[in-house]
Order: sequence, then C-alpha cells, then structure tokens
Amino acid sequence: MRIRILMLASLVACADAVSPRLAPDVVAAAQAVPPEPARTPDIHFAATPQPVVYAMLELAQVTANDTVFDLGSGDGRLVILAAQKYGARGVGVELQPRLVELSRAVAEEGGVADRVRFIAGDLFDADISDATVVVLWLSQTVNTRLAPKLKRELRPGTRIVSHQFPIEGWTPKAIVRADYDGTDLFLWTIPPP
Ligand SMILES: C[S@@+](CC[C@H](N)C(=O)[O-])C[C@H]1O[C@@H](n2cnc3c(N)ncnc32)[C@H](O)[C@@H]1O
Repeated sequence: MRIRILMLASLVACADAVSPRLAPDVVAAAQAVPPEPARTPDIHFAATPQPVVYAMLELAQVTANDTVFDLGSGDGRLVILAAQKYGARGVGVELQPRLVELSRAVAEEGGVADRVRFIAGDLFDADISDATVVVLWLSQTVNTRLAPKLKRELRPGTRIVSHQFPIEGWTPKAIVRADYDGTDLFLWTIPPP
C-alpha cells in the first residue's frame, strides 16, 4: 500500500495533467497549490528509484534517533521511507510548491505526517543544523556550491549520502554501487572540529 502511494506520488509529480486514476485526495493536493516555484530549480525533478532509496538509507545507517534532511526532496520519498522503515524524523526542502504539497499528502496517507515535515523553499537558505543525516540527489556542480554550507552548519558526526554525484575535494568514507541501477552512492561524515 505504501509503495503504491509513493508510485502514485511520482506519477502526479511527473505529469502536468493529473491522471483520473489517482486517489482523489492526492490529486487535490497536487492541484491545490501554485505550480510555479519561486525561482528556477538548480536541477529538475526525478525520483530516486525505491531500491536505491533503501540503499542510501542503509548506507547512512539511519535509525529512529536520526533526523534525515533531503535537500531538494522531490516527492518526499526519502524522508517518508526513512520515517516508515526506521522510525526516523525527516525534513524535506523543496523549491517546487506542488511537490511539497504532494509530499505532505503522501506523508499523511503513509501515516508519518507526525514525523516528517516539508519546507517549500530554497535548500541554500534552509537551516539544516538539526540534521543527523543529509541525503542528496542534485548534481556535481550543485554539490560543490553546497559544500561550504554543509561544512558550516552540520554537526560533527552527521552523515551525508549523495546519489550519483561526489562532492569535489571531499574524500568519501565509502562508495557503494547500487545493485538496482549501478549508480554510485557516496558517504561522508562531518569530522570533529
Ligand atoms: C533530482 S530531484 C531529487 C528528488 C529526491 N531527492 C529524490 O532523490 O527522489 C532534485 C530536486 O531538487 C529540487 N531543487 C532543485 N534546486 C533546488 C533548490 N535550490 N532548493 C530546493 N529544491 C531544489 C528540484 O525541484 C527536484 O525536486
């Protein structure tokens, strides 16, 4: 059921014309907000495939004690699945209002609305200091721009997992190839000061 919800969520997010096959409340959520982001996203929406989501969360060793931030959270699947599978808390930051509303609706349907929240805004402006885990699927260029913020705001011990893209000049603690699609997943830990 939860997997179905996430698949439906992706369909809504990817299509401008919402399919009449989708659950009415999910459709309403996707249609009820302004579709335009405040500015052009640094990278377009694509959803991390679900097996890769699990591989990322496992690489980060997410537990119920964690607060997982997804910077550019798309349809919210990473933080929603982190809450569902591991009992973690989660925060998604996403520029596109329609995706934020969709994420909230999916979290509600998935029974984790009390554990996750979604911020409509620019990831470069977000306060990320509460994170114990940060997940990313952006680009190498955006990761490079983001690196000083990660270094400045995250606490020692915070894990960062990036789908596909390294952070220039940062040596990963681990690189794991996702069985599902062969993409590399990079893990770093913020060192002590
Ligand atoms: C490749 S998608 C990844 C979505 C999700 N993290 C996942 O892995 O399924 C990148 C997302 O980042 C969002 N995005 C791009 N630039 C952003 C910015 N400056 N602030 C917040 N979100 C942004 C896009 O709208 C898009 O949803």
